Amino acid sequence: MMNNFTWHTPTKVHFGKDQVSRLGEEAAAIGCKALLAYGGGSIKRSGLYDRALALLRESGVEVVELPGIEPNPRVASANEGARLCREHGLELIIALGGGSVLDCCKLIAAAAFYDGDAWDLVEDNSLAGRTLPIIDVMTLAATGSELDNSAVISNPALNRKMPFFCDRAWPAVSILDPTYTQTVSKWQTMCGSSDIMSHIMETYFVLGSNSISDGFCETLLRTVIENTPKALANPDDYEARAEIMWASSFGCNGLLALGNTPSCWVCHGIEHELSAFYDITHGAGLAIVTPRWLRHSLNAATAPRIAHYGERVFGLAHQDDPVAGANAAIGALVSFYRGIGLPLTLQEVGIKDDAHVGEMAEHAMRFSPFDQAFAPLTLEDVRAILMDCFKEP
Ligand code: NZQ
Ligand code: ZN
Repeated sequence: MMNNFTWHTPTKVHFGKDQVSRLGEEAAAIGCKALLAYGGGSIKRSGLYDRALALLRESGVEVVELPGIEPNPRVASANEGARLCREHGLELIIALGGGSVLDCCKLIAAAAFYDGDAWDLVEDNSLAGRTLPIIDVMTLAATGSELDNSAVISNPALNRKMPFFCDRAWPAVSILDPTYTQTVSKWQTMCGSSDIMSHIMETYFVLGSNSISDGFCETLLRTVIENTPKALANPDDYEARAEIMWASSFGCNGLLALGNTPSCWVCHGIEHELSAFYDITHGAGLAIVTPRWLRHSLNAATAPRIAHYGERVFGLAHQDDPVAGANAAIGALVSFYRGIGLPLTLQEVGIKDDAHVGEMAEHAMRFSPFDQAFAPLTLEDVRAILMDCFKEP
């Protein structure tokens, strides 16, 4: 199937060793006063902070710092960043860190020109107007935020975690040096790979696709599956880190979905509820939800595609019975997750009871209706998927 599409990725990418050396010149080409945003301190330990400050100083770019952006970034940080941008008349935003830092900066970029609570923009993306340009140095391979127009923002007061889509919030420049991902912990490495794989699987498991999309997806999935154990065994393995990082960038930026029927992004819809209520790591939640979603989606119509995925991605032998092939494929995915150390039940991420299951299912359905999914899902199905997450997969 080849539906019509528009393809536009307005981000300049510098990929590879020491590409951070371009930060100063790229920033100075945009402006001379920048917000320098980062998280809880990993960039100080890795040396990126000192390097970035030196490069910016040499290029005559002054910075105002916004430290402490949280994993699962909170709207309060975006409001604070927007305030700093307005107060100091800043001309651009520099995000140093993982997807959370960059996502927060995307909202800051729009909120800097919005007279009100940044959460309004998350609830109604059409309120976003002008934006400040963003340059990022991405230090974690997971979200693909470096090559997309979306952010995901948490509002703990409301138990909400919601996407912010904004075509004026694509990064102007993304600097991707895989060396900086070598300090990522084992936990964040495995969760990052789970997130990348999920973006690809959300795109792959749709009702209509084409061979170009399928080929991209299958190659990227095999790339992550082959390289994640290498990066876990040897965190300094540059080639493994580089392959995972580049796979991450294409996981979420729309390239993989061109021409396909739209995806409902079911696992993300459900996982964002888990993160909103329990502040768990996104990739861990996805590893728990995805096998249950695939099992719930398995029927006579979907079995051949799931079985085909098992053959192409995990190298499983063809079975004449597509349902048996599909079950083997789901089993292979679970074994991979287990093999790299990901949690497979909600109890393993500290969620002990089903107190919020009903509420989470309702939110997930309200914000992303799943009636056009690979296998259409009702509210009862979403509740059942969540309840299954308490049992062994
Ligand atoms: O805060 P610091 O000290 O920097 O530490 C971070 C954080 O604790 C650490 N880290 C990052 N780079 C590191 C490092 N530690 C050592 N060495 C490094 N090089 O890792 C921890 C997690 O960082 P975070 O940015 O939260 O991780 P990730 O990149 O996985 O981002 C997750 C967030 O992105 C959202 C998720 O929901 C979650 O909120 N997503 C964003 C998407 C998008 N923009 O398109 C799509 C995704 O589906 C996802 O929903
Ligand atoms: Zn994700």
